[in-house]
Amino acid sequence: MALILNGADASVAIRTAMAGEVANFDAQGYRAPHLVAILVGTDGGSMTYVGAKKKACDDIGFTGTVLHFEADITEEFLLNEINRINQDPSIDGLIVQLPLPKHISEEKVTEAILPEKDVDGFHDINMGRLAKGSDGVKPATPYGITLLLKHYGIDIAGKHAVVLGRSNIVGRPMSMLLSAAADYGNATVTLCHSRTQNLKDYTLQADILVVALGKPGFVTADMVKPGAVVVDVGTTRVDDATKKAGWKLMGDVDYAAVEPVASAITPVPKGVGPMTITGLMMNTLVVYKKSVEAGKIAKKSPA
Ligand code: GUN
Repeated sequence: MALILNGADASVAIRTAMAGEVANFDAQGYRAPHLVAILVGTDGGSMTYVGAKKKACDDIGFTGTVLHFEADITEEFLLNEINRINQDPSIDGLIVQLPLPKHISEEKVTEAILPEKDVDGFHDINMGRLAKGSDGVKPATPYGITLLLKHYGIDIAGKHAVVLGRSNIVGRPMSMLLSAAADYGNATVTLCHSRTQNLKDYTLQADILVVALGKPGFVTADMVKPGAVVVDVGTTRVDDATKKAGWKLMGDVDYAAVEPVASAITPVPKGVGPMTITGLMMNTLVVYKKSVEAGKIAKKSPA
């Protein structure tokens, strides 16, 4: 029986601890951390994710603001909004939910966000700081995964971590975090992708296997070393007539077959998904604390 790395449970524990920190700042007279999420259009998945982010803010005691714009806004309008928020000292973190409508450049939008407020960690400057091992905002999903492993006491240092997938949002930054000279890293990392030959030769060497391919059920039991820690980042919607919504989420790992082989494994759902939001919240708290320490957030005047 593998240990189930339950991201929903871990998120409750981590977010409760964060709420305690926020209450402490409040008791000292500071305003709450403030996260703004911009949503453009009515994509079902995006609306669900932004709703979950807003709820997480409310639960922790952050101010959470959702700016919901029509799908036909111009790129210029959106860039102006981002610029306004960049300059607003009452806002600590900003995310623009992706995907965006086709007429708006995701690249331009991502790069318009002030790196210090980019709590998704997508900006080139934050990716660059991650690559150099200097202090930047960490990418929310890979960061959330390191928080999950830490929560369950999984040792990373000196282990061989194999990451499947080289996306800019998960695989590549995950490989950088796990190899960093930091308490969440110090692993030996192999990054595999769609052009990797003899993939199984690598996955069978993994003490920690992180899978972020978007290919449901791709990792089978014969690809996993007995006792490995398996982290499944896949969340593909597949048709399922037995569900009310008509679909269910499927991970990249054949969970039923791999679970008996692994020493620990994330389920889908309730694995990495909630940790993405917890990573985002942690980033928001971290940038807020930096601003408090730098004297950029004044204490509220007594009522
Ligand atoms: N779309 C899918 N995942 C993400 C994410 O982590 N952040 C944002 N902003 N958009 C997304």
